Amino acid sequence: MKIGIFDSGIGGLSLLQCAMERLPNEDFIYYADEKHVPYGEKSRREIEGFVAEIIAFLLEKKAEAVVIACNTATSTATKAFRGRFPVPVVGMEPAVKRALDLYGESGKRILAAATEVTVKGEKMHRLIEEVDRERLTDLLPLPRLVRLAEAGLFDSREAEDYLRAELAPYDMGGYSSFVLGCTHFNFFKKTLRGLLPPDVRLVDGNEGTVNELCRKAARAAPREKNDGDARSVEFYISGRLACGGSRARFLSYLAWLSEMARIN
Ligand code: DGL
Repeated sequence: MKIGIFDSGIGGLSLLQCAMERLPNEDFIYYADEKHVPYGEKSRREIEGFVAEIIAFLLEKKAEAVVIACNTATSTATKAFRGRFPVPVVGMEPAVKRALDLYGESGKRILAAATEVTVKGEKMHRLIEEVDRERLTDLLPLPRLVRLAEAGLFDSREAEDYLRAELAPYDMGGYSSFVLGCTHFNFFKKTLRGLLPPDVRLVDGNEGTVNELCRKAARAAPREKNDGDARSVEFYISGRLACGGSRARFLSYLAWLSEMARIN
């Protein structure tokens, strides 16, 4: 099966990394909309336009399932597109439910970080109302992390200083977990791990989204597994095939992200 995955930029590579590990016999197309990144600073209307265009592109490339590997795009656009495409389309939301399922019993708080658009969005507030009866979740917008990720400044002084300043107002001893509610934030797990107390767990939505993809894709398009086929991945940057140095950049980010995936 050919699976299309997209994000405003490189954040969704963390979802791709997780999907490639879990579904080693599938083919992948990754689309980074670097022309329009960051989505977290765009209007709802603009984001809906980008999403429609990218899904059409991935369908043209014969994607049989699509993952919106972007919490921001999901929070603004999924309602408008539900049921509109001939293939399963899976979105992402900050993994507050997962954090509550895993650590809610401690009674400690949860710090959910995301982009400005996601934090302010109706979808985020509805999610908290639905799953967080005791109101344990605090929301923290971290827009600069997206730009730092796009600049390749993952393990950097800039990222560390920014995160230290943003976390300073919180008494992290009272928190059980930190939710990475934007796929770009996965690039900074090493820095976050160094700044947060060791018992504050890092929680992201990649695994849950891949599980949802497996459920939806199997339901909508049952397929024989093509065991033995080497998996393939093609990268596109806002519609242009990434070759040479651009492809190498994506592959090196995937290697960094597989290190980050081991940090919790
Ligand atoms: N990676 C995206 C997310 O998960 C959005 C980043 C952005 O473009 O602002 O929300």
